[in-house]
Amino acid sequence: MSEPLKQLQTAVEKLGIGHYRRHVLLCTGPSCCAPEEGNAAWEVLKKLLKDKGLLTGEKACYRSKVGCLRVCCHGPTLVVYPEGTWYHSMTADRIPRFVEEHLENNAPVAEWIFACNKLG
Ligand code: FES
Repeated sequence: MSEPLKQLQTAVEKLGIGHYRRHVLLCTGPSCCAPEEGNAAWEVLKKLLKDKGLLTGEKACYRSKVGCLRVCCHGPTLVVYPEGTWYHSMTADRIPRFVEEHLENNAPVAEWIFACNKLG
């Protein structure tokens, strides 16, 4: 195996890629929200995924902080795959309910969803 592939394989193993059921992408602005607001939501999301054991196991969720999802209004914008559920206004105070209802109980929070685009 080449050196780049070895390094990539190490990263894959360290991150647990291959075991995830969901991927949550959270935009932290600057156009859909103030970066401070987006980063505050990101910190809560990170902590809750870890504290609730949602980084591994049956409901393992990969998380990504992104700079833009091209919606650019009423953020922080968040999208969950594979179901392709798009959420608006996902400020830090909303993250706990989102994690509990959508990620733990498979019950998306309908009132905050503005679009759906299931993949696959
Ligand atoms: S800056 Fe958040 S969607 Fe564009």
